[in-house]
Amino acid sequence: MVRVPNIKLNNGLEMPVLGLGTYQSKPNEVAEAVKHAIDHGYRHIDTAFSYGNEKEVGAAIKEKIAEGVVKREDIYLVTKLWCIHHDPSKVEHACRKSLENLGLDYIDLYLMHNPVGFVYVDDSTILPKKQESDEFVIASDIDYLDTWKAMEQLVKKGLVRSIGLSNFNAEQTERLLKNAEVKPVTNQVECHIELNQKKLRELSKQYGIILTAYCPLAQHNPVEKKPAFLYDDRTIAIAKKYNKTPAQVAIRYLLQIGTIPIPKSVTKSRIEENINVFDFELNSDEIKILEQQDCGNRIARWPFINPTEKYYPFNAEF
Ligand SMILES: NC(=O)c1ccc[n+]([C@@H]2O[C@H](COP(=O)([O-])OP(=O)(O)OC[C@H]3O[C@@H](n4cnc5c(N)ncnc54)[C@H](OP(=O)(O)O)[C@@H]3O)[C@@H](O)[C@H]2O)c1
Repeated sequence: MVRVPNIKLNNGLEMPVLGLGTYQSKPNEVAEAVKHAIDHGYRHIDTAFSYGNEKEVGAAIKEKIAEGVVKREDIYLVTKLWCIHHDPSKVEHACRKSLENLGLDYIDLYLMHNPVGFVYVDDSTILPKKQESDEFVIASDIDYLDTWKAMEQLVKKGLVRSIGLSNFNAEQTERLLKNAEVKPVTNQVECHIELNQKKLRELSKQYGIILTAYCPLAQHNPVEKKPAFLYDDRTIAIAKKYNKTPAQVAIRYLLQIGTIPIPKSVTKSRIEENINVFDFELNSDEIKILEQQDCGNRIARWPFINPTEKYYPFNAEF
């Protein structure tokens, strides 16, 4: 079994440097994926209220605890406050709802999923729109600073151990830091070979915030042979040298540039493959070759948010 190292966060707590993603892992597949992952050494699991699979993720973790494979404290569970719950009066309700779904009594890391808030209709209306056919959701004008203040209370109440950001750009991160009492430990953003987030990474490092790399495989699509970096001769040559796959090289790259990759898979062999990245090291020339493939290719643009919204994060360069 692979042992994933931990990294120390700015609040003194530790977090495993690689996790299992579960976005679009269907409820009927995700439990098997999480259990298989835990059996093979994963200790960090990433889910979200909006993924609709917290119940299954939590049940799988509890099954492994009951089997004696892990203890609760061995697991690092990350979930996220959805945009409909940004109103400060809704934050604790949302957190308790996630805890109830998960069947756990604390969350290791609770992230604000996106700086943009949406209006609240009810807990199951994830994308509130005027009409079903509308392109964009109805955003609220709630300031993420107010949401953050309410998230800070969750730490004080012991419902969550750490809090963090997701999809925040540099300016938003700095604005939040100026006003925060509890510092975010991480910012979970899209990060892979074609969008390596050099500038945001460097800025975040100055503040002691580690980037978690979502879409580490840029949502691999074998039919379209995308992303290009998994099919690129340069990546393939590096992979061959270490007897690894291009996906393993892509994940290893993210570890070496100091981010925390969370590859998603529901395929047993790939779950094993993606954690098997701690027995080789890319040299600086290879890192440079992979860096050359950065082209700012952002996949997750959150197309259901109108880019003219005040807090839409992706208009800024980084
Ligand atoms: N905070 C946010 O806004 C946000 C946004 C997006 C994602 N995330 C988080 O980040 C996680 C990862 O991102 P993602 O799921 O969007 O994309 P990803 O991990 O980049 O890619 C997942 C895709 O790659 C395939 N795959 C996995 N391992 C592979 C391998 N070794 N070789 C070839 N293909 C492989 C998976 O297929 P199979 O499953 O069929 O094996 C799946 O289709 C998410 O699951 C979620 O937890 C967060």
